[in-house]
Amino acid sequence: MTDTARSPALPDRMRCVEIAEPGGPRVLRPAERALPRPAAGEILIHVAWAGVNRPDALQRAGSYAPPPGASDLPGLEASGHVAAVGPEVHDWQVGDAVCALLPGGGYAEYAVTPAAHALPVPEGLGLREAACLPETFFTVWSNVFERAGLQAGERFLVHGGSSGIGTTAIQLAAARGARVFATAGSAEKCAVCERLGAERAINYREADFVDVVRAEGGANVILDMVGADYIPRNVRALADEGRLVQIAFLQGPKVELDFAQVMVRRLTITGSTLRPQSDLSKARIAAALRAEVWPLLAAGRVAPVMDSAFPLDEAAEAHARMESSAHIGKIVLSVG
Ligand SMILES: NC(=O)c1ccc[n+]([C@@H]2O[C@H](COP(=O)([O-])OP(=O)(O)OC[C@H]3O[C@@H](n4cnc5c(N)ncnc54)[C@H](OP(=O)(O)O)[C@@H]3O)[C@@H](O)[C@H]2O)c1
Repeated sequence: MTDTARSPALPDRMRCVEIAEPGGPRVLRPAERALPRPAAGEILIHVAWAGVNRPDALQRAGSYAPPPGASDLPGLEASGHVAAVGPEVHDWQVGDAVCALLPGGGYAEYAVTPAAHALPVPEGLGLREAACLPETFFTVWSNVFERAGLQAGERFLVHGGSSGIGTTAIQLAAARGARVFATAGSAEKCAVCERLGAERAINYREADFVDVVRAEGGANVILDMVGADYIPRNVRALADEGRLVQIAFLQGPKVELDFAQVMVRRLTITGSTLRPQSDLSKARIAAALRAEVWPLLAAGRVAPVMDSAFPLDEAAEAHARMESSAHIGKIVLSVG
């Protein structure tokens, strides 16, 4: 074993959930694997809770392959205690409580990740809530505030306002002084978005978000995960100099668009996915979150919205709930 420190009683094997073959939720299968080992700069986490995210479902369905070298097990975030540290890890010690962004492998009793992608459990939060932070907070921070440069006083529109991403984006944007608008698919979901800090939540089954946002002067920043016909509608909803950030295409990536609008109104269309980015870039996002966002969590100004928890072995049920879109906020798996 190459790690420099480890807890004394680590087993050789662990319980996990693997993807038997590409397909629906039922392909998630309880299994047993050898414990992963932390390489230089990595920590091994004894997982207590693992967050469930829409990209896990894409991976399960066969359309979001893990990057080279990452675990083939699903799971992009987890909380727990450090069980071992690899060489050249100075910031964490065995026994520390952490939550961390993972390259994969969160649906398991133990997972490895670069030490720089772990963060302390924010003051006042438990491990269950902490497991829900990394994937959505890394994504929202890097896209809304770094890539799109949302500023206090600007108008921000987020689609899928009741999603894990949406509930995070609404709270962070409101806490940092933006005027927030959100879309969601039911009155109940819209009410939650407004409780979280949206000035106006738009039920997209009943009203056109373009009309609502344009009546306010247009959105300075839009965070979109829907795509398809939302793309030209987003362009219409943007204010001059507005920025559109795509983080997914739930309804498809292809569309016909009049780019003259982009030129004439000086718009920016951008986007990113978190998982393929370099370790260094994710470490930079982690450092920014620790400085700018962890104090908001500790002060209770921002908090993860918890939908439901399932035992690890019932990951298939957790995925079915997520894909039904009945949930509001985050779904977690109880592992430890
Ligand atoms: N780029 C990145 O790095 C990155 C990272 C994490 C997540 N993501 C993406 O961000 C999105 C949200 O992730 P999440 O984990 O927060 O997911 P989630 O909680 O499952 O939320 C997805 C939401 O989108 C809405 N929705 C679902 N299918 C839709 C469709 N066909 N058309 C329109 N709306 C639909 C649903 O709300 P309604 O009932 O209101 O329609 C649902 O609550 C996902 O697409 C995910 O792949 C991207």
